[in-house]
Amino acid sequence: MTGFPSAFGAEPEGVWAAPGRVNLIGEHTDYNEGLVLPIALSQTVRAAARRRDDGRIRLRSAQQDSRVVDLTAGDLRPGGITGWAAYPAGVVWALVEAGHLVGGADLHFDSDVPAGAGLSSSAALECATAAVYNDLYDLGLTPEGLASIAHRAENAFVGVPCGVMDQTASACSAAGTALLLDTRSMARRHVPFDPTAHGLDLLVLDTRVRHDLTDGAYAELRAGCEHAAELLGLRALRDLTTDDITTDITTTGDPAVDGRRSVLSRLPAALQPLVRHVVTENERVIEAVAILEEGVLPRLGPILTAGHASLRDDLRISCPETDLAVATAVEAGALGARMTGGGFGGSVIALVPAHRTAAVTEAVTAAFRAARHRAPFAFTAATSAGAHRIR
Ligand code: GLA
Repeated sequence: MTGFPSAFGAEPEGVWAAPGRVNLIGEHTDYNEGLVLPIALSQTVRAAARRRDDGRIRLRSAQQDSRVVDLTAGDLRPGGITGWAAYPAGVVWALVEAGHLVGGADLHFDSDVPAGAGLSSSAALECATAAVYNDLYDLGLTPEGLASIAHRAENAFVGVPCGVMDQTASACSAAGTALLLDTRSMARRHVPFDPTAHGLDLLVLDTRVRHDLTDGAYAELRAGCEHAAELLGLRALRDLTTDDITTDITTTGDPAVDGRRSVLSRLPAALQPLVRHVVTENERVIEAVAILEEGVLPRLGPILTAGHASLRDDLRISCPETDLAVATAVEAGALGARMTGGGFGGSVIALVPAHRTAAVTEAVTAAFRAARHRAPFAFTAATSAGAHRIR
């Protein structure tokens, strides 16, 4: 972190890191009070930082122009800052709003989390900032406390109506595990996830199709799900099971079973696939956790592919590039693949026998070339811990 002294003329007091994430399964379930199963990546946002006693916050990022963004803690207002600095500024605002006594700081960020790739670079930026402030100002926040401040920053300051998955993954994950999070109760469980031990790789293919979550499509999906829950008289779509969306045509003689009609029939046609996605996706998380806990990882493959079909056909948030990456990866030997993250582009994950990883990467790259798409960026995911101080 050589950038700190050259930007701010002094040594930092410490350096903190917060990871990006990929979600194994459980997409667009978090704002429906459902289940998610992300892992934290070894790619992180690092923040070198030093306290200031004049209330100023000076922000600089190695990935942005060399300009220092200069702010004052007490002057921060939601919507008042745009661009990358809104994320760290939002965290300071959320801390002040929550009643924490915080002052200024100089922060220099450096990141190897690809931005806009559906890998939660913004959550990592928020959680790194929250971890800095937690230590510099002795706030005593737990990992879930950091996640909640980061999430508040994104919802209320940046203005993205996202769920809690990304910030929780970035703050609360543990290496060698996936994080099962129940977004209703916020109960968490670290589930063993070690593809290498099974001769597998979790390959990440960034399609380099960028989609900004602030542009409205995400908010529209969320509103559709919430409207469906309201029409059904439910607190959230989480309250439905696959039984509720199945029409039973058997005649067993039991009136409780015979002639059962799917609740989908009570909804406008446009909302039905959203509900179907959320219900089946929650079930896929439960199945995936059972597979991880039984140690039969190859069986995760078909669940990933089924999850992608649901994103493509029911939520309709895939795009030609993600569909091509998934189909080609599976044809070339992946056990399963799906788009991960908010959708409309971003990254695909593929569970691949390690000896096929190079072949799968080459096949997807060749298919992209043939289709005249930009070359994808591929790497093998390694799990890591949530936000913490590294120096
Ligand atoms: C984005 C949001 C998350 C979640 C995913 C979809 O990453 O930030 O809260 O809703 O999309 O699963």
